[in-house]
Amino acid sequence: NKKLAIAIDGPAAAGKSTVAKLVAKHLGYVYIDTGAMYRSLTHSVLKHKIDVNNHVQVVNHLHEISIDIDPKQQVYLDQANVTDDIRTEEVTNSVSAVASIAKVREEMVLRQRKLAEKRGVVMDGRDIGTHVIPDAEVKIFLVASVQERALRRHEENQQKGFHSDLEQIKTDIKQRDKMDSEREVSPLKKASDAIEIDTTSLSIESVTDQILSIAQLAQ
Ligand code: C5P
Repeated sequence: NKKLAIAIDGPAAAGKSTVAKLVAKHLGYVYIDTGAMYRSLTHSVLKHKIDVNNHVQVVNHLHEISIDIDPKQQVYLDQANVTDDIRTEEVTNSVSAVASIAKVREEMVLRQRKLAEKRGVVMDGRDIGTHVIPDAEVKIFLVASVQERALRRHEENQQKGFHSDLEQIKTDIKQRDKMDSEREVSPLKKASDAIEIDTTSLSIESVTDQILSIAQLAQ
């Protein structure tokens, strides 16, 4: 079987990482979460009290830090485990501003392309099919209604015992999608050759199976 690059893009909380992990597991591929890279930088920028609007300082900071993700999806910022820290509301609400900086994207894309050099990868994000791996053999664009995406996130929060406000989640998701879609550099957009899957009324298993069937045809 030919080893592939599988790009999975789509708006916030559409289930990309859940499905990408399962697809990678089934195929014995490496899963790469590019959102975690932007989140790690954002976490570090906030921690160092750097103004996210100061592009020069944010870019310089990126060149000073190392971001590593191990096969178990533990995220390390300069060797410190930040897996939980990068999922806070504070990081989530600032990450799109950081990710809109052209020079930040340039550097992130270089790092991501290096990680995807060897085929046998599933990478998820916003610009993987359009920009990071434009020659990926399989491109998927995952979408779902805002209501459904917010509900899933809400239930996840409640299961973890976190405080959760459904209306607030909806507002935040819409705001992040708007910023990610309207930024100038490689905005969130379906690649012309991507296959769109609307997961609103689909189970995780069914979405995973669909992607595995598409991958099989490309092998
Ligand atoms: O996927 P996740 O929600 O963790 O991504 C967090 C943020 O990182 C996105 O809202 C977006 O601003 C940015 N991002 C990006 N390009 C990617 C992946 C994530 O701009 N390839």
